[in-house]
Amino acid sequence: AAAQRRHQATLTEVLRKAEDAFKAQLRTAPRAIEYLKGRGVSGAVAKTFGLGYAPPGWRFLSTVFPDYQDALLVDAGLVITAEETAGADGAPAQEARRYDRFRDRIMFPIRNVKGETIGFGGRVLDQGEPKYLNSPETAVFSKGHELYGLFEARTAIRQAGYVLVTEGYMDVVALAQLGFPQAVATLGTACTPDHVRLLFRFSDQVVFSFDGDAAGRRAARKALEATLPWISDTRSAKFLFLPPEHDPDSFIRAHGPQAFAQAIQDAHPLSRFLMEVASSDCELDTAEGRARMASQARPLWGAMPDGALKRQLLQEIADQVGLDPRELAQLWQGRASGTT
Ligand code: UTP
Ligand code: MN
Ligand code: MN
Ligand code: MN
Ligand code: MN
Repeated sequence: AAAQRRHQATLTEVLRKAEDAFKAQLRTAPRAIEYLKGRGVSGAVAKTFGLGYAPPGWRFLSTVFPDYQDALLVDAGLVITAEETAGADGAPAQEARRYDRFRDRIMFPIRNVKGETIGFGGRVLDQGEPKYLNSPETAVFSKGHELYGLFEARTAIRQAGYVLVTEGYMDVVALAQLGFPQAVATLGTACTPDHVRLLFRFSDQVVFSFDGDAAGRRAARKALEATLPWISDTRSAKFLFLPPEHDPDSFIRAHGPQAFAQAIQDAHPLSRFLMEVASSDCELDTAEGRARMASQARPLWGAMPDGALKRQLLQEIADQVGLDPRELAQLWQGRASGTT
């Protein structure tokens, strides 16, 4: 365990050194500076988030780390090894070929809650694929457990009394620049229960603000499921829905901070969103549709801890599906006549 901790500390030092090198590169890369300017990113916010630039070329990091063959660079997710097989004549395998994972990309350092650099997201400057390349899973980085921007946002979250959860790196950066420094992002993965538990350590109010497109709507539904086990009568979540053509970055740049503040005001409380999800694709003017809603509501309601909110929702769902709450609870417990 002590050895494991030492290894992790060494990895975060390596990543920190790479971050510094990427930052220095950004200062002398007009293309990268132009890219960020074109997206409206100020120098101040770039500095806050430690944005940098990984230059083109396969082995930039060999100029930063004299021992480019050190396995630590691979363990840190910075260098990729392409194993070469032995030649047909039986010659021994050549030394593994190595190259930088991140090349010609804008670099977003990802930090843990202690502020240590644990990985990177790297964005292409043009139309290349993938648009964002992320660090692989390493001894210090696990996507499903980390939230981009949480370290930078921690004080603002406490001051605002809520945390904004977005999908993307640029959403966090744009929101911070335009007056909402209490924003974090999931890293291109669905919001997990672990994410939500971490968020509730910082605030008792979470506002999800995903992209307005279909993928963002699916992300909101996933976030609802991830949130339900952790809510209480004092801890809750809201869901902000943007127009389909926008994400938080494009919305706030197009419509301004006031419009975004209004969108937060208009965000749906968890209870409302739960009712919408429970009744989706249900024709409530038919018995079949109401039965379908009862079925869809069951796992959502069941995932909630007991409390006043849960009891009220039972009442609301029962009203919608046309049953008495006690009957509905019995049905869900499988004790309805004829089912046991
Ligand atoms: P989006 O496709 O919505 O990108 O993906 P974006 O954040 O709006 O990016 P910009 O504005 O074009 O720069 C949302 C998030 O999903 C992850 C990233 O974390 C991204 O910010 N993602 C997306 C990846 O990890 N890889 C990808 O290729 C694309
Ligand atoms: Mn998207
Ligand atoms: Mn975007
Ligand atoms: Mn987006
Ligand atoms: Mn618009």
